[in-house]
Amino acid sequence: MQFKYCLGVISLCSALFLVGCNDDNSSDSQTPTVQEQKQKLQPIIIQGALPVESAHMAAKLQNVTVETIGKSWTFWKGTYNGYPVIISKTRMGMSNSAAATALAIERYKPIAIINQGTAGGHDPDLHVYDIVLGKYATNIGAFRTPKQPVGAGSDSLTWVEAFDVLPIDESDPEPIAIRKFEGDQELLMAAHKVRYDKGEVVEGTIGSADVWNNELDRIQFFHQRYDTSVEEMEAASVAQIASQFNIPFLGIRILSNNITNNGAYDPGTGEACQEYVLNVAEEYMKSKLPK
Ligand code: 5AD
Repeated sequence: MQFKYCLGVISLCSALFLVGCNDDNSSDSQTPTVQEQKQKLQPIIIQGALPVESAHMAAKLQNVTVETIGKSWTFWKGTYNGYPVIISKTRMGMSNSAAATALAIERYKPIAIINQGTAGGHDPDLHVYDIVLGKYATNIGAFRTPKQPVGAGSDSLTWVEAFDVLPIDESDPEPIAIRKFEGDQELLMAAHKVRYDKGEVVEGTIGSADVWNNELDRIQFFHQRYDTSVEEMEAASVAQIASQFNIPFLGIRILSNNITNNGAYDPGTGEACQEYVLNVAEEYMKSKLPK
C-alpha cells in the first residue's frame, strides 16, 4: 500500500517536472512555442545604403542566406534573436533605394521596412551621434523653378515651389506641394522603447535627394521651409515606394556630420545606428507576436 502510494507520488512529480521542462524548443500540436510564433512572422527589412551602414547588421544575423539581385543589391536573409530579418544593401541614392525596395516588397513580402543610416544635420541643435526618427520623410530634390530668361542665372534659394511627384490628382502635370510621408506609428513606438546612450533620439523630418548640400544658406532654407532635421539620399524615396504598397515604414538616421554647428564627419556613427536599429526591429517584431 505504502509502496504504491510512493510510486504514485514519484510519477506525479515526474509529470510535473516534464511540464516544467516544456521550453521554446518543444511543443504539443495545439499551442505553438514562442520560437514557432517568431518564425511565422513575415520578415522585417532593414536597409542601409553603404557597407558601413549595413555590414554590421548582416554579420549579426543567424541562419543567413545571401541573395544578390542585379549587380549589387544584396539581401542577407536570416534571423535575429529568432525573428526573421532581412538586411538590404541598397547602394546610394533615390533610384537605387527605390529599386531595392520594390524588389524586396515583391520578393519577401515584408511586415515592415526600416531605412536607416548616416545623415547630415540641418538643425544646429542636433549633434553627431544624435538619432532622428523620421516622423516625416520628404523629397528635397523636386521643384518647379521660377521662369528666367537666358543670361539671368540661377538661384536655388528662389526655388520655393516643391514638386509633388506622387499627386492624388494624376491629371495635373505640374503639382506643387511639399509631400511628407509619415513614419509608421508602431515602428515609432518601438523605437522610443529602445535605450541609446551615444546621443539624443528625437523625432523629426528627414529630407532626401541625390544631393549633398554644403551651402549653409541652402541648408537653412530647407530647415525653415521643410522643417528638415537632417538630409540624406534615400529615406523619402523608400517611403514613397512603401506607401504605394501599404507597407509600414520608418526612416531612422544618425547624424554623421552637421556643418551647421561644425560637427565633423564621424564614420563610427554607421555602426552605432545599426546597433540601435537592430534593437528597434526586435522590439517591433516582439509587439507582433500573438498576445
Ligand atoms: N548629405 C547627403 N547625404 C548624406 N549621407 C550622409 N551624410 C549626408 C549629407 N550630409 C548619406 C546618404 C548617402 C551617403 C552619401 O551617405 O544617404 O547614402
